[in-house]
Amino acid sequence: MKKKIKENIYFDHSATTPVDQRVLKEMMPYFSEKYGNYSSLHGFGREAYFAVEKAREKIASTLDCSKDEVIFTSGSTESNNLALKGVIDSLKGKSAHIITTQIEHDAILVPCKQLEKKGVEVTYLPVGKNGVVDPKSVVNAIKDNTVLISIMYVNNELGSINPIQDIVRMAKKKNKDIIFHTDATQAVNFLSCSVKDLGVDMMSISGHKIYGPKGVGLLFIRKGIPITPLQAGGHQERSIRSGTLNVPGIVGLGKAIELAVKEMDKNNKKISKLRDYFIKGVLKNVPDIILNTDVDNSVSSHANFCFVGAEGESILLYLDAEGIAVSTGSACASGSLEPSHVLLAIGIEKEIAHSSIRFTFGKHNNKEEIDYALSVLPSAIRKLRTMNPLYNK
Ligand SMILES: Cc1ncc(COP(=O)(O)O)c(C=O)c1O
Repeated sequence: MKKKIKENIYFDHSATTPVDQRVLKEMMPYFSEKYGNYSSLHGFGREAYFAVEKAREKIASTLDCSKDEVIFTSGSTESNNLALKGVIDSLKGKSAHIITTQIEHDAILVPCKQLEKKGVEVTYLPVGKNGVVDPKSVVNAIKDNTVLISIMYVNNELGSINPIQDIVRMAKKKNKDIIFHTDATQAVNFLSCSVKDLGVDMMSISGHKIYGPKGVGLLFIRKGIPITPLQAGGHQERSIRSGTLNVPGIVGLGKAIELAVKEMDKNNKKISKLRDYFIKGVLKNVPDIILNTDVDNSVSSHANFCFVGAEGESILLYLDAEGIAVSTGSACASGSLEPSHVLLAIGIEKEIAHSSIRFTFGKHNNKEEIDYALSVLPSAIRKLRTMNPLYNK
């Protein structure tokens, strides 16, 4: 007998995460007690300035870069746009070619499409069934006018990990001047993001994916990388990103990154145990499914399935009614009738891709929640399949 254990069970950590209480505590004073503008010269301003610079220092030492290589933004969408468009704009119309992959987040794909309209050539590399790009295919795609490679570290739908270090090494061996950007939004909780080790020139990070606040993120830009700002205004962030700094957000981002790195091993151990237990239970109790996440090549949080014959949106709504929050692929794409571009890229047929559900586990989940989901899921899928005349044929 299934027993509802609580109203809201959250298995959608790839969409966003709750703010860690320790992060919130550090942020709180900067809303209404220490509310100065980072750029003001008086005491209130200095207080804000020192808080931001302390966060920047903490982040720089975590990412293995220098303080002035960290540019605060509103999140990874902005960081990705700044990375791609900022570098291309700096070329002032010179012939340019970008290499990226078919499984990037829309925050890369859409700017790439916009740049194509402006005459930039873009190669969208395919990935294997495991959702990982072959480093050799990146090297083979390099042309004389390739200026930028942007490849995500971890895919948001599958959890697959791209071998960024190898790709950078091989690409730079062919042409050392190519600028390498990685969207590390989904990586920071699970993998080392030392820019020195990875060898990347630019890296995007977002606060709300790592138990930090929404609306804040950063772009690491290695010294010397040419970049034209996207917006004009004040001279904040060395004029690369004008706009009054989000002081509480940045303080929260600093704490969130610090905690993510400090507690990575512990969290990875806990989350992967839950994820593997869940996958085992689903595979045992629900027939006719495809596990889209290759657990040997993914971060610990993800379990993405296709439940053949049951519509993803219907599964999501059914589970929501049972108090379980999941997602159909990328949160930003939900509501759209198009199947996930990521699942199509790993070779899932269009019809089957519509039956996908992404479960992403986090550090606050527990076995009781997984057991509850395992008690609900098989009957949900059975019921939805009986309503599908095509499945029952
Ligand atoms: C891989 C990836 N890149 C970029 C983004 C956009 O990040 P933000 O919400 O901080 O704009 C997301 C969010 O879903 C993501 O998963």
